[in-house]
Amino acid sequence: MSDNRGDSGHLSADEFRRQAHRMVDWIADYLDGAAREYPVLARVSPDEVSVRLPTAMPETADDLDVIWQDFLDVVLPGVTHWNHPGFMAYFGITGSGPGVLGELLAAGLNVNAMLWRTSPSATELELRVLQWLRDALHLPGGWFGFLNDTASISSMLGLAAAREAADPEGRRRGMAGRPDLPPLAVYASDQAHSSIAKACVALGIGLDGYRAIPHDAEYRMDVTALRDAIAADRAAGMRPLAVVATVGTTSTTSVDPVPAIAEVCAEHGPWLHVDAAYAGTAALCPEHRWCLDGCERADSLVFNPHKWMFVPIDCSVLFTPHQDLFRRAFSLVPEYLTTPQTGRVVDLMDYGVQLGRRFRALKLWWVLRAFGRQGIIDRLRRHVALARELAAWIDDEPLFERLAPVPFSVVCFRVRPPGVTDADQLDRLNLDLLERVNASGEVFLSHTRLDAGIALRVAIGNLGTTTRDVERCRALLRQAATSASASAGTGK
Ligand SMILES: Cc1ncc(COP(=O)(O)O)c(C=O)c1O
Repeated sequence: MSDNRGDSGHLSADEFRRQAHRMVDWIADYLDGAAREYPVLARVSPDEVSVRLPTAMPETADDLDVIWQDFLDVVLPGVTHWNHPGFMAYFGITGSGPGVLGELLAAGLNVNAMLWRTSPSATELELRVLQWLRDALHLPGGWFGFLNDTASISSMLGLAAAREAADPEGRRRGMAGRPDLPPLAVYASDQAHSSIAKACVALGIGLDGYRAIPHDAEYRMDVTALRDAIAADRAAGMRPLAVVATVGTTSTTSVDPVPAIAEVCAEHGPWLHVDAAYAGTAALCPEHRWCLDGCERADSLVFNPHKWMFVPIDCSVLFTPHQDLFRRAFSLVPEYLTTPQTGRVVDLMDYGVQLGRRFRALKLWWVLRAFGRQGIIDRLRRHVALARELAAWIDDEPLFERLAPVPFSVVCFRVRPPGVTDADQLDRLNLDLLERVNASGEVFLSHTRLDAGIALRVAIGNLGTTTRDVERCRALLRQAATSASASAGTGK
């Protein structure tokens, strides 16, 4: 490749252009529907990709055309296509065209937004787009927002700020060997995402300090059980640190009763963190805004534009009314990071653990401007309508049983052939059926465990997903269910 290098050691401008144009053409076709040509779920077994990769790094420069060909031949077969319209697993997402353009520019600029000075636009754009989002979601004016990579990190930072509020000494003294510091407890429903328990592990609260509160018949936190757990912990000498309410749980997208939870927090003192990673976006729609009711009383709230707002992964928003507390928890400025503006501007390194930060706001800005609030709402409504049609179909199909309400765009259900009553057999049958449907390469669904047993999940969130895709999903499900029923010996 030495002939491709410019004098500076970069690629020559002409070579960069040639390579980039080929890639952009490929991505344009991919986003325009070519993604459908690939099986949505990668058809490789473990290590099948790695055996085709050299074990040592190249000693000398590889030719860029060869690298491109290896991408097509070696890498692509091992890709699961999250941007495929048939991707309906976990939470369906879309790295949309405008978002990809923002990413491209961010990569080209390669700024590090650790300090205001290290790229003023990166900081100011971030603060401004998050203000747009705060206002569009009707969250309190004056709340401060900043970006992180994922909801897992945003939630961990929220709980770290809660710890700072509860124990201002902790930053200096740590938590070990402190007779003055009772053990801390964090409460979330048993439907909360595993990232909350992981945050407890990372923050020294430990899994012993994590309380999984039972859910009600619609998978929402049981607030009476929350009150009881807090009272029991207090009586045992523990300090309730935080309650995490989930708006849009991972399995069923249920919404915890935030107003009642906020009331408990106000009475008993713990921090209220809201995990709205998936469903926060839905609150842009007036008819779904109810899901954030009560959140104006939260101490921190996370939602992920990379889940259902068409922004390429990764992009997670953390909002809080307590900007100062986050800074108190995390700011630590060595001489080499001071600037003439220190103390007069927002330096984003002060709000979390990481120093270096990507220019994530650029892709978010691109998406918000290219779609507009109304454009995003229109697309969310289409997804919700598709999910509701699917739910209605499941309700009418004798072989299927819906297992949870459908507040947004995720449907949980299972196949239940007449005569099959054994719980283990039903679970096995549904997991087998899932594998069969996923082997089609046309759709990719995931599963979870609900009160009734194993549930299949269809999560609609891709911009390219149409009625035809959902109909095809239904056909595959019906076909697999019919044959599963037959082999279960029901004759149906
Ligand atoms: C409710 C909820 N919270 C948090 C997460 C974790 O998100 P991330 O991958 O951004 O850490 C998820 C992931 O699906 C989720 O559903």
